[in-house]
Amino acid sequence: MGVITVYSGKGGVGKSTLARFLSISIAEQSEQGKKVCIIDTCQNSSIATGFLKDRDSFNVSAYDWLTGAAKPSEVIQKFRDNIYYIPSDERVDDYADWVKKNVPRPKQLDVLRNKLEPLTKMFDFVILDTHPNENSDVVNYSISASNFIVIPTDIDMDGIISAERSVELVSEYKEAGYQIDYGIVFNKVEHKGPKEKSLKQLEMFRNRLIENGIPEEKILGSIRYSQKVSTSKNEGIMLNDLKDVWSKNIMEDIRIISNKVFLRGKGASLND
Ligand SMILES: Nc1ncnc2c1ncn2[C@@H]1O[C@H](COP(=O)(O)OP(=O)(O)O)[C@@H](O)[C@H]1O
Ligand SMILES: [Mg+2]
Repeated sequence: MGVITVYSGKGGVGKSTLARFLSISIAEQSEQGKKVCIIDTCQNSSIATGFLKDRDSFNVSAYDWLTGAAKPSEVIQKFRDNIYYIPSDERVDDYADWVKKNVPRPKQLDVLRNKLEPLTKMFDFVILDTHPNENSDVVNYSISASNFIVIPTDIDMDGIISAERSVELVSEYKEAGYQIDYGIVFNKVEHKGPKEKSLKQLEMFRNRLIENGIPEEKILGSIRYSQKVSTSKNEGIMLNDLKDVWSKNIMEDIRIISNKVFLRGKGASLND
């Protein structure tokens, strides 16, 4: 089973959106349909709302499963064939405190990795959506459980700096011997209006990342900006169900990225 974390220290860059579209893309691209489960570890519950469910409609959530109060089968929700998710709620933030009280210190960093073990028989991929806080222990549990970290950034300086810091965080794990890789995704790239300006900025930020020692192959691609992404979920429509050119373009952007993510993030460490 491949374990993929979507992380950036900056909010609003598209982590939850990308987690959702990666799951759709992974499930739809593979011939027999790879089974994928998104685990929401952010208290905003964007995965459930992105899948058009009321975030308050669940009796149990990721927190109950993480703390052993619920079995996986009780918290795993089905979105569509091959696409499942575990919703979160605001308690997920308290998980780190729970771990500190209940898990021996040397085992704390591995709590999530160990929780995922029973899921290896159920899913080909798990995608962990995170809260944007590098000091959060839950983020560190997620990274230490993963084969691959996807780092989305928007086209601005804050986003790029957050992406670079995220790379540094992943590098610490690499240096400590973890078999982990990462890729950066530019999100919300304007192809309309002042297109040239946006593409120039993209080029500038790309060069900056490379000058700062990030290998070019780690830049997985870019997803263009579309109003459709931010409004479709509110209208109860999934982007991959829309047939207009813009929605198709965005799904195409995501397919290119998802191909790389699931090739590199296949992972062997959690295979049984
Ligand atoms: N490519 C895109 N084009 C337009 N809007 C986007 C795009 N990606 C994400 N968004 C919107 O940006 C907002 C933040 O995205 P979200 O995935 O919730 O970010 P995060 O999880 O990093 O906080 C949401 O309203 C989302 O719909
Ligand atoms: Mg989010």
